[in-house]
Amino acid sequence: MKTAFISGITGQDGSYLAELLLRKGYFVVGLKRRTSLICTERVNSFYDNPNFKMEYWDLNDSSATYRLLLKYEPDEFYNLAAQSHVRVSFDVPEDTTLGIVNGTLRILEAIRNVHPKCRFYQASSSEMYGDNPDIPATGYDENSRLMPASPYACAKVFAHNLVRNYRTSYGLHASSGILFNHESPRRGETFVTRKITLAAANIRLGHQDYIELGNLSPKRDWGHAKDYVRAMWLMLQQEVPDDYVVATGDSHSVKEFLNDVWEIAQLGIPEKHLKINKKYFRPHEVPYLLGDSSKARKILGWEPKYNLKLLAEDMYISDFNHLVSTKGWK
Ligand code: NAP
Ligand code: GDD
Repeated sequence: MKTAFISGITGQDGSYLAELLLRKGYFVVGLKRRTSLICTERVNSFYDNPNFKMEYWDLNDSSATYRLLLKYEPDEFYNLAAQSHVRVSFDVPEDTTLGIVNGTLRILEAIRNVHPKCRFYQASSSEMYGDNPDIPATGYDENSRLMPASPYACAKVFAHNLVRNYRTSYGLHASSGILFNHESPRRGETFVTRKITLAAANIRLGHQDYIELGNLSPKRDWGHAKDYVRAMWLMLQQEVPDDYVVATGDSHSVKEFLNDVWEIAQLGIPEKHLKINKKYFRPHEVPYLLGDSSKARKILGWEPKYNLKLLAEDMYISDFNHLVSTKGWK
């Protein structure tokens, strides 16, 4: 039986990846930082699975990484932990950057020193392309120039380069997935897609009057997290480690996503329920993201099952049903 570590187990991707690996017969060790509330909502469905174990760990703690690597000798380590909110990274730049940069370095050093056979996955991000004005018509690929536009993205670039450096210098099986935005019903409530689907469900049920948003014009290549965790696993099954872009190849503005959700919720035009609030604008915006995942499609045989419409429906219906069942609203 293979053993996998997942840091960021309580996050959106960590929970979907754990479900995938458990279905594939892995023993999964979920690495969780200490929080004042237990925050295990996303892992409840498999918490009692005998092939799952949760361990306390933190990006800022080397000792825990060494101790757990020696204890479990995992085959694979998926590093998904991060302060992952781009806007928040402008407010807490040190915490964001130190966690991503030093946290990734600590894991790579520990693997190199005590368990070099362990395969490593790094959660790199399309945010690393930033405001690069030279976007190829087919989208950014693995060789496109990185021009990060936030403390979060700068840190992800540093960690991304570290992974390539450790792969080359020490022969580690270390790969980075450059994942474009991916969403789901488990998406954090302050990311724009989830904020929109949750607001639509609340408005539809008569418990919210309007939604406050920031800049509606940025475009994102949005996919479904369920599709994207499959790509993470596929990367670590390859004989040769490498970096891969994972994206749908389709880009839409925040306004288009808002329109789609309002249509699904049958709420008429969004302007009836919309206020623009400057506080949600960013000091430095990433205007347009489009990914070219030809390499992942060719080498990993990966392709997404969800398009934007299916994603929006999945998220809205989940939010609507959850409000009805937990609050008793009709
Ligand atoms: P998420 O929902 O925000 O989850 C982040 C996870 O990291 C949570 O489990 C969080 O724990 C944990 N974490 C944060 N700081 C930590 C620390 N100091 N020590 C240990 N754990 C810590 O993010 P996600 O959407 O699942 O994304 C997973 C990874 O992929 C992140 O690295 C993100 O930057 C990257 N990424 C995401 C996307 C996307 O569109 N979703 C795209 C590209 C890359 P708590 O639950 O305690 O907060
Ligand atoms: N969060 C948020 N809230 N974003 C808003 C809002 C709002 O009220 N109004 C407009 N936006 C715009 C943002 O300015 C941004 O251009 C876009 O919506 C998407 O914002 P987020 O959903 O917060 O995602 P992100 O693109 O900044 O970052 C996500 O994707 C990255 C991959 O490209 C995160 O998951 C990152 O962790 C990930 O690396």
